[in-house]
Amino acid sequence: MLRRLHPDQPESFAFTAENQAWAEAQITKYPPDRQASAIIPLLWRAQEQEGWLTRAAIEHVAKMLDMAYIRALEVATFYFMFQLQPVGSVAHIQICGTTSCMICGAEDLVAVCKEKIAKRPHQLSEDGKFSWEEVECLGACANAPMAQIGKDYYEDLTTESFARLLDDMAAGNVPKPGPQNGRFASEPAGGVTTLKEYSGEAHNGSVALAVKIGDTLKRIDGTEVPLVAPWRAQGERAAQAMDAPAHQEPKPGKHAQVDETGVSKQAAPVLRSAKPVPVAKGADAETNPPELLEAPKGEADDLKKLKGLGPKLEETLNELGIFHFWQIAAWTPAQAAWVDTRLNVKGRIERDEWIAQAKTLAAGGETEYSKTT
Ligand code: FES
Repeated sequence: MLRRLHPDQPESFAFTAENQAWAEAQITKYPPDRQASAIIPLLWRAQEQEGWLTRAAIEHVAKMLDMAYIRALEVATFYFMFQLQPVGSVAHIQICGTTSCMICGAEDLVAVCKEKIAKRPHQLSEDGKFSWEEVECLGACANAPMAQIGKDYYEDLTTESFARLLDDMAAGNVPKPGPQNGRFASEPAGGVTTLKEYSGEAHNGSVALAVKIGDTLKRIDGTEVPLVAPWRAQGERAAQAMDAPAHQEPKPGKHAQVDETGVSKQAAPVLRSAKPVPVAKGADAETNPPELLEAPKGEADDLKKLKGLGPKLEETLNELGIFHFWQIAAWTPAQAAWVDTRLNVKGRIERDEWIAQAKTLAAGGETEYSKTT
């Protein structure tokens, strides 16, 4: 299939402020000069925001990643998950057409799309609200035939239930995702035979989460959950992430945060454990880096006595000019972050409390870990 940019393109693209912050955080996951590795998540976020990937969005992302535009274009045109043409303003319907779904009636669902949306895939409906395409297996084969609509799966579809879903969405509603034939999950059609203790629940886990979040059809603008970047635990970004729930109020009944902390359940434990480190005013490690030495003063300390620091990291620290416990003991949080970036250890300095360990060792004491080395 020839994948080209759409002839009608908007003039410009910009991430929302929240998505921009999210995108910048993704880039920090990769080592310096390897920012291009963030190309897929950033293009995907642009698509989640706009519904499709515009030329301006691809250029914007290429610029953020310091990549040649053609390289970003290659990625965008290679992967079928990127929509290169406008999609329905309400929803883009992805019908699974692989074996189980095909046997169970996917072709009938495609016929509904042709009748109610547009004759051809990737064509907008007359009112611009919907578009559709056939995709490969979406991994819900036990609930065939099914479709992904927005962020959720609609399963056990029939032509009637599917047509009803489309009408409901066109009317501005967000129908409950999951099985549409009364099944709880993917139990036998005749009823649950095992795990009966869960059958009294209103929804299975996936549907319960989708209903609770309530944003199945919403485009992602970055306000859904606060920016979570635990690998940037030191410094201002972590403090911002910890502060975020206070100023990102969900709209009632819509896009509700998943738990009371305002972050997703998966992210919550990580974020809670990421203690915000106050950044002292003027503590700019780029202009005030940690003390670095040309050579050790006397005999270098065995830095491997620090928990979480092996021979390779010791070698890198020595190359940077760090040989002694007293050097590490003197780091400010900003300076620790400066070293963290260069070692690419993503928060390990804070997690393993290198500074506290180094203070003990520099004073001639032992830590639990150093006693074992
Ligand atoms: S065949 Fe349709 S979800 Fe697997």
